[in-house]
Amino acid sequence: MPLLTNLNGHIAATAQVSILDRGFLYGDSVYEVIRTFRGRHFGLQEHLARLRQSADYLYMAVPWTDAEIQTEVEKTLAQADWQESYIRVVVTRGTDIAIGLQPSAEIQPNLLIIISAIAPEPVLSETGLHLVIPQRIRNDKKALDPAAKTGNYLNNILALFEAQQMGADDALLLNAQGEITEATTSNLWIVREGVVLTPPVEVGILQGITRRFVLQILQEQNIPYAEQVLVPTDLDNIQEAFLSSSVRLLMPVRQIHKTPLPECPGTITRLAWQALLELMDTHSAKAEATAEIPGGLA
Ligand SMILES: Cc1ncc(COP(=O)(O)O)c(C=O)c1O
Repeated sequence: MPLLTNLNGHIAATAQVSILDRGFLYGDSVYEVIRTFRGRHFGLQEHLARLRQSADYLYMAVPWTDAEIQTEVEKTLAQADWQESYIRVVVTRGTDIAIGLQPSAEIQPNLLIIISAIAPEPVLSETGLHLVIPQRIRNDKKALDPAAKTGNYLNNILALFEAQQMGADDALLLNAQGEITEATTSNLWIVREGVVLTPPVEVGILQGITRRFVLQILQEQNIPYAEQVLVPTDLDNIQEAFLSSSVRLLMPVRQIHKTPLPECPGTITRLAWQALLELMDTHSAKAEATAEIPGGLA
């Protein structure tokens, strides 16, 4: 398996954290998933900003600067003997000898980076995904806000299992008010009467970095769109739908429950896909021109 790890600045084929690490014991950690494009990390600054917001939500310290984390990511990528990578940046609250919910005052966070090989070229799926709405609802914003990307993904894992038991590929989760939120690891987009609709942040979703780029593209391309509260009946009579996330980018939806969608991948999905690749190309060219690597941790 082409994989590399970086634990607090030490790069190795694999790394071990203590069984007393709170990330392991409680999911007491935050993380980001980023991808490379043309061999360079894409959207790292946006992801690190969200990592800090997630850490703030957990009252967790992230003692490294963005430049230090970037250096560690780049040092790890430099050792990969493959083209494009999945990058996972994890910060755990740390290892604590005193087992219990209350962390000790001297606890030190751990910074873990995992990279692995992904397909050399992003490809838009022609098959598409089958989605269902499971019984399980998304974590309530007042309990564990989905806007924070924490190491506790049990809500999403259980929704995925339920969707698979229903014969589907992924779940579309409702919130306690019956409003559509997002899929288990991606944001939702539907196209109805030529307008692209996506649930707003207020319903309780992760504010996807890819979602942000898609909104930018829709605006630039003058495609009508709205961030709008959606309920399951809004999924009736839609032309097309897709999901967005950092590694898979855009994933067309083929079917919702028993209803096949008229277009998969749809016209707007294809257009957004093309525009997203162009945007990534432009970003990676600009980043290449300004690249400068400061010192690392180890
Ligand atoms: C629950 C959830 N929603 C949405 C997304 C998409 O976010 P991004 O575009 O930042 O990858 C993810 C990504 O992992 C996710 O886990």
